[in-house]
Amino acid sequence: MKFVLFKKNENKVDRSNRILPQHVGIIMDGNGRWAKKRGMPRQAGHQAGASNFRKITRYCNSIGIKNLTVYAFSTENWRRPKDEVDALMNLFYDYLVEALADFREENIRTVFIGDVTAFDPKLQKLMKEAQDLSSDKTGMRLNIAMNYGGRSEMIKAIKEISAGVAEGSIKESDITPELVSAHLYTAGQPDPDLIIRPSGEYRTSNFLLWQSAYSEYIFMDDILWPDFSTENLEEALDEYSRRNRRFGGV
Ligand code: FPP
Repeated sequence: MKFVLFKKNENKVDRSNRILPQHVGIIMDGNGRWAKKRGMPRQAGHQAGASNFRKITRYCNSIGIKNLTVYAFSTENWRRPKDEVDALMNLFYDYLVEALADFREENIRTVFIGDVTAFDPKLQKLMKEAQDLSSDKTGMRLNIAMNYGGRSEMIKAIKEISAGVAEGSIKESDITPELVSAHLYTAGQPDPDLIIRPSGEYRTSNFLLWQSAYSEYIFMDDILWPDFSTENLEEALDEYSRRNRRFGGV
């Protein structure tokens, strides 16, 4: 038996009249394998992945996606060999300088989600500048998840809420899903409607754990992130518009 998680659906969707997700999450996976297939070092895959991140981000904004969250570096990615982590940090720095200037011109608001205090102060400064300089932008909100992990995000929320309970500003009966959401990095934003993961891995990998309770997942197994095209994104959006979301109802 062959299991296929994403199969091209030949039923055409009218793209001019399609329900778009308000919030799209992307797990940008497969950079290492992309490089290996070409006999290149893994870092070259990340480089190609970073330039694709720019392309897809601009495209999402141009078609009217209001919120995009990309998984750039997880709390577990520090376990990679030092030279790969160093190369990723340099890449973040270089690409952030260039890409953020573009995004500002394109009215994109950039927000970093995750514990950014773990990064080099120079990188932190750049992240803060990028965030501050784009804070008045009214187009798409781009969340870049850096040193992000869904479990540590929930621990952060639990600690903040329990401190509130201890000091008396929060009553136990105030603890609702809305209160928990308000203590996450994504406070005030809609939950992701659609999460896309290319590369053939069928995992959530600690990405937006709380927020994805009712997200539609699309795992695309025949494409690695650096090759993920605007047409692949369109196919995922077509597929999303065919889904019947029930949120636990019938
Ligand atoms: C997963 O692929 C990808 C990463 C851990 C890094 C993602 C980072 C980028 C695409 C750069 C983004 C740049 C900015 C500025 C936000 P993998 O290395 O796990 O691939 P593999 O599973 O094939 O080994």
